[in-house]
Amino acid sequence: MTFVHKNIKKAKTITSDFYYSKKILERLKENLFTKSWQFVNHITAIEKDGDCIPFQFMDEYIPEPLLLTNHKEQIRSLTNVCTHRGNILIKKSCNIKNGIICNYHGRRFNQCGIFKSMPKCKEVEGFPSEKDNLTSLPIKIWKQFVFTSIDPKISFTELINDMDKRIGWMPIEKFIFSEEKSKEYIVNANWALYCDNYLEGFHIPFVHQSLRENLNYDEYNTELFKYSNLQIGIGKNTESCFKLPKNSIDYGKNIVAYYFWLFPNIMFNFYPWGLSINIVLPINTEKTKIKFLSYIWDESKLDSGAGSELDKVEKEDEEIVENVQRGVKSRFYDRGHFSPTMEKGVHHFHLLLSDFMRMR
Ligand code: FES
Ligand SMILES: [Fe+2]
Repeated sequence: MTFVHKNIKKAKTITSDFYYSKKILERLKENLFTKSWQFVNHITAIEKDGDCIPFQFMDEYIPEPLLLTNHKEQIRSLTNVCTHRGNILIKKSCNIKNGIICNYHGRRFNQCGIFKSMPKCKEVEGFPSEKDNLTSLPIKIWKQFVFTSIDPKISFTELINDMDKRIGWMPIEKFIFSEEKSKEYIVNANWALYCDNYLEGFHIPFVHQSLRENLNYDEYNTELFKYSNLQIGIGKNTESCFKLPKNSIDYGKNIVAYYFWLFPNIMFNFYPWGLSINIVLPINTEKTKIKFLSYIWDESKLDSGAGSELDKVEKEDEEIVENVQRGVKSRFYDRGHFSPTMEKGVHHFHLLLSDFMRMR
């Protein structure tokens, strides 16, 4: 992957092999994703003392088996692998108030993952040691959302703070998860192409007819932060806009959507009805899973404005992104220039990608 110039007027996109090389996708695991913060769940999913949910760090892509636990309101992200011979400890969400018992040879851990006992091992030397406890991973909570990382190289504060400053006034802790409105999409394209497309509103008038009717395209703007960026959707009138508090720096604007992107693969889209979190998970170089999680603030606003037809908009995006996936494999395509006004977000993403790819 070649160097991406800091000056957008001089820069070209990452080279096209990024979107189809197996080697690059493999390298990204250690160079980028294990170092990133990944969204795990909302805190109310493990409301009671002892509640736990097994999960994989990044589903099929980095299937590291982990466990989200609640011990007296202390939330932990633990390895879900027995320290004896590697059995997976918990297979379904459950309550582990009485501890964890491995169903292979009966090793026991307490709710915090500390080794408690093991049958037939009295003679073992230097046992038990710290190594027999379940490793606890870094964890961060913002509002009601839990994030974890394997080996974080991105400061969580730098990832979240700009979003928090901008829209932290919303009662985000009170948004209610809707299973019914949440879904998964499979796109036949590379994960980064899906992000590229998300990161620019340039394509809106060409690809999204109905969204164009709701948005004032000329005022569509992108703001860049260190590890995140924000696209603001401005409405054509005051209908379906946020009622902004006076102390918001956006007060007086007809904002219909705040689209926050958190490097490298998470989107927090705020609409007057609530929040749609999108998590982009690679399956292979040309297949990606997108999880759409919906958190409702005001149900009565679900059917109006820029956030009302998410399914339709998603299908339109998928179609174009799948086309591009075929295009970037062409012998005649390698990389292209950016529009300095409309593709600031994509350029920001490519700069960060090229930085992380160079890391050893
Ligand atoms: S693998 Fe867990 S007790 Fe043996
Ligand atoms: Fe789009």
